[in-house]
Amino acid sequence: MSSDGNLSGSAHQSSRFLATWLIGGVVLGISVLGFYSVIPKGILKKKKKRPVRVYMDGCFDMMHYGHCNALRQARALGDQLVVGVVSDAEIIVNKGPPVTPLEERMIMVNAVKWVDEVIPDAPYAITEEFMKKLFDEYNIDYIIHGDDPCVLPDGTDAYALAKKAGRYKQIKRTEGVSSTDIVGRMLLCVRERSTADSPKHSSLQRQFSHGHNQKLVDGGSGTGTRVSHFLPTSRRIVQFSNGRGPGPDSRIVYIDGAFDLFHAGHVEILRLARGLGDFLLVGIHPDHTVSAHRGAHRPIMNLHERSLSVLACRYVDEVIIGAPWEVSKDTITTFNISLVVCGTVAEYNDYQKDKNNPYAVPMSMGIFQTLESPLEITTSTIIKRIVSNHEAYQKRNEKKGESERKYYEGKTFVTGD
Ligand SMILES: *[C@@H]1O[C@H](CO)[C@@H](O)[C@H](O)[C@H]1NC(C)=O
Repeated sequence: MSSDGNLSGSAHQSSRFLATWLIGGVVLGISVLGFYSVIPKGILKKKKKRPVRVYMDGCFDMMHYGHCNALRQARALGDQLVVGVVSDAEIIVNKGPPVTPLEERMIMVNAVKWVDEVIPDAPYAITEEFMKKLFDEYNIDYIIHGDDPCVLPDGTDAYALAKKAGRYKQIKRTEGVSSTDIVGRMLLCVRERSTADSPKHSSLQRQFSHGHNQKLVDGGSGTGTRVSHFLPTSRRIVQFSNGRGPGPDSRIVYIDGAFDLFHAGHVEILRLARGLGDFLLVGIHPDHTVSAHRGAHRPIMNLHERSLSVLACRYVDEVIIGAPWEVSKDTITTFNISLVVCGTVAEYNDYQKDKNNPYAVPMSMGIFQTLESPLEITTSTIIKRIVSNHEAYQKRNEKKGESERKYYEGKTFVTGD
């Protein structure tokens, strides 16, 4: 069955509804046969349809728009999406230490707009006992997973039980991004920054470049810049966006930034910003602006990738894909912005001292506000975490890189996304 966004989702729903209606009608028709000549229409309408609940699990470590897209597709196969987030201990045993602790991974998953409920500390592999719990306690109808194989250390299929029970559905894996690839981009950026060509890092570079057609392009300065595989289509952007403008009396709040390696710190500041108005507009700086302020190796994720991650966040109503560095009078008027906000924890915090303060206009208009950032996390924090235990990642990614290489070699066209 196609899992094509909301369209077929609702078509699927309406056909289910029709089926329920017809069967219900026949049963009711037989039972009342001879007693009533007319079936009152109201009775059928009042009967409430139980929502179809689907379950998807994952580690959601260094969450990216590929994860978000999987959650979007899973949600389209039902009415309510319950997500199981694997515990730190289980990830350590099965894959090596996660970059983001459970508490941050929970914030990330909860913030995805297609997620209805989250179960913390989910097991890495669905056991018989956990599956029973999903069916009986959480009222799950189907367990969803991507079309990439998920093999347990003992060589068995992690979803065998769900398949056997006939409660398994598959979605298509999102092309062009993986955590392995993102770790590669980060390590590459670190390698470039360290002056000496450490053999460790160049071997990592090789390791990540032999993957699935990874291209290393010489940026002119003799340093390789990683090129993303991601091919943005307008359709994907439409699938991720809310498709709604602000209401007539909406108070519009504006926040801008790079939003590179979208993390829990971003989510938390967006949540606060959204709470100050009715509509949150997020300005995402273009790649060259980010490079100009944070160095040639940033951003790690390109403008379109960063835009999708921000769009998937439930606190965000709209994004400007490539926002100007300075918040001008024109921008404020065009979008009818009531308030411009900025978090206290950011990689660039010297704007007050800056001769070209990007917030000079909203400040002079008295519509600028600084928000106390709830978390002390920046993009650099995430990069530092990876570098500090990159040996463990190297091992983990050698294994994963191999299975990913196999996936891409054996890849064939699968319809539906
Ligand atoms: C602009 O925003 C204000 C709220 O700050 C709202 O009252 C007003 O209706 C908006 N104007 C338009 C034209 O939407």
